[in-house]
Amino acid sequence: MKSFFEKQKFGSFISNEMDISSGKSVDHPCFVTKKPWKTCQHVTKEQVKLACASAKKASIELKNLTAYEKSALLIKTADLLRANKAYLAEIITREMGKPITESFGEVEYTASYFNWYAGEVVRIFGLEIPSRTKKKKIRVSFEPIGPCYFVTPWNFPLCMAGRKVSAALAASCPSINKPCTEAPITKLALAYIIKKAGWPSGSFNVLIGDHDVINSILLPSRDIKKVSFTGSVAIGKYLYKESIETLKKVTLELGGNAPFIVFEDANQIKAADELILSKFRNSGQSCVCANRILVHKNILDDFLEKVVARAKMLNVGNPFEEETQISTHRHPNSDKKAIAIIEDAIKKGAKRHLNSKAPYEPEVLTNVTKDMLAFQEESFSPIVPIMTFATIDEAITLANHTNYGLAAYVFTESIKTASYATENLEFGMIGLNDGLPSAAELPFGGIKDSGFGREGGPSGIYEFLYTKSISMKL
Ligand code: SIN
Repeated sequence: MKSFFEKQKFGSFISNEMDISSGKSVDHPCFVTKKPWKTCQHVTKEQVKLACASAKKASIELKNLTAYEKSALLIKTADLLRANKAYLAEIITREMGKPITESFGEVEYTASYFNWYAGEVVRIFGLEIPSRTKKKKIRVSFEPIGPCYFVTPWNFPLCMAGRKVSAALAASCPSINKPCTEAPITKLALAYIIKKAGWPSGSFNVLIGDHDVINSILLPSRDIKKVSFTGSVAIGKYLYKESIETLKKVTLELGGNAPFIVFEDANQIKAADELILSKFRNSGQSCVCANRILVHKNILDDFLEKVVARAKMLNVGNPFEEETQISTHRHPNSDKKAIAIIEDAIKKGAKRHLNSKAPYEPEVLTNVTKDMLAFQEESFSPIVPIMTFATIDEAITLANHTNYGLAAYVFTESIKTASYATENLEFGMIGLNDGLPSAAELPFGGIKDSGFGREGGPSGIYEFLYTKSISMKL
């Protein structure tokens, strides 16, 4: 493993080999130190076609594996991820600046998906359905959908690819991953680990380079049966449109604008602690994090004091230092957003409580209103914009006032309030007194502009299977 991680030259990973023979070479400096680190060879059209053929060939071999063989391979992959966590965590932090302790957490989070599907894969049985006539038997089996195309983001560079490919492999589907330009090495490391675990050649291919080159071959291809994407609404809609001609199955996870509702009877200490976990994870750059904090007007002062005290204690610093909780090295677009959101809020009358001096520093805002970017946009920043409400219906109306529908959070000690709020919030995932609901066993995904389809949980594997019904006349 060490020799792979220490390589200088990287290229696309096709049929279990890294190809650095053609295409243009692009420098890939360390995101944190800005010093030269690796170079990446960009893929050619010919190589994209090879990857497609390789995935097609792997479908046959994957289909021939028994569920128990796949389960063992998934466990082996999880073990190898954990055994190489120091290398992987370092790559994640070098590529996108996440605090190193969180990068270790991301490796574990990724491994947990492989373990989850190792359990799921041996429980995918068919059905025998009673027929209305004695002369027929009706059987249903679940079949692999075929080669898939994954487009994955930079904010969780290992896990967003890992949770797609773990489900795909469990379902006997090979895949081709186009990583974001920011974090290709993490995906190549994942591909290398999948190879080392013993999966058939071509089971997971990674194409580095220009998305127009890759999309122009894979999106119109009839050999690619599914597209799974995590990222922006605009790119998600583009991939969806481009998949129409060949009617590919599509899964989209397109970001959020999560409300975090704190009712009057909430355990405020718990709510403040969970808000910090949710909001500042990955230095504010997660799609599920609390984005609009809605607090009952009678507890605003108490709750604000708790949040401000906790936010002040956070360690902002170099992501390679273990005690760092918020990285000084965030995506440049996230920093731009933070500046725009705070400027807009101040101009429209919001009050700031931490007087942050840089876009990566925590900020708490009150007097936030619906016309502010802080309410309307997914900030991807360590900003806590607080609004107040007087009634449960007002809180729910405010919470649902967004085109997004990924995650929402509710803090209350009342069963009645919890039940009413969870029923009426229009979001795919709800954290009830829980600021970090993400887990391999939880179906992850949204509604509205946050996309559709689910990853992980009991339904995750079915995103890669189609239903085959057999009617047998006796
Ligand atoms: C994301 O923010 O894109 C995913 C985070 C998660 O899996 O919890």
